Amino acid sequence: MAVPFIEIKNISKKYKSHKQEFEILKNISLEIEKGDIFGIVGFSGAGKSTLIRCINRLETVTSGTIRIGKVEINKLSKKEMNLYRQKIGIIFQHFNLFDSRTVFGNVAFPLEVAKKKKKEINKKVTEILELVGIANKQNFYPEQLSGGQKQRVGIARALANTPDILLSDEATSALDPVTSLSVLDLLKDINKKLKLTIILITHSLDVIKYTCNNMAVLENGVIAEKGKVKDIFENPTSTTAKVFIKNNANLSVTYNRGNVI
Ligand SMILES: Nc1ncnc2c1ncn2[C@@H]1O[C@H](COP(=O)(O)OP(=O)(O)O)[C@@H](O)[C@H]1O
Ligand SMILES: [Mg+2]
Repeated sequence: MAVPFIEIKNISKKYKSHKQEFEILKNISLEIEKGDIFGIVGFSGAGKSTLIRCINRLETVTSGTIRIGKVEINKLSKKEMNLYRQKIGIIFQHFNLFDSRTVFGNVAFPLEVAKKKKKEINKKVTEILELVGIANKQNFYPEQLSGGQKQRVGIARALANTPDILLSDEATSALDPVTSLSVLDLLKDINKKLKLTIILITHSLDVIKYTCNNMAVLENGVIAEKGKVKDIFENPTSTTAKVFIKNNANLSVTYNRGNVI
């Protein structure tokens, strides 16, 4: 097999608290191909957010390695990592927008941090707002937007520095099913258009089924199974996947491709 774009090898993450040690991630290994939409599913508390925070090194792994392209991220200095982090976009459940900035200002922010010229910022922001379908809202403030529109701003901001990877931590969990699907459609669209590798974390099986090619099931900090989405749905072996698939069997959402955002 060719060398995967992202290789997470035997990582563990431990926290110490009140003289006790908790191992939140246990010997996790994942290989993710370039241009893939890779889903990681697990119940609340399984360690999904911790894993994503290790991938952009907001947390440092206790042991193991994470390689993205040619870069071993834990070997980078803090300064190098800050720079490299511009190549890792991230979106969140609660959008995490700056309330005091307009849509335009939110998307411009990472470009300002990267010290881009004003002309370049204007061009790039206009381009991305068009791509995510909210160009007409560029002077609005977050409080004037719907949840779906806010997440589009979140996505636009994450894309501003032309990242190699987009990390999505429960990005559609706060949205109603129809809006959620329209945001997932957008992620699929940018994955195709920009050939962007997406790691999508969710507790929803529907989200994985609708969006991802490959997946892993995280169970109490352990990868319980991983493989092609189709194969796991046909023959789940982990307890989590079995429970999810059983409980979600009748929950598939019919989606009318209207202009809902
Ligand atoms: N900074 C931390 N210190 C100690 N424990 C933590 C910390 N962050 C997360 N945890 C614990 O790690 C476990 C996994 O959390 P998290 O990664 O947020 O799970 P998920 O995103 O799957 O819901 C939880 O039991 C949580 O309490
Ligand atoms: Mg989480």
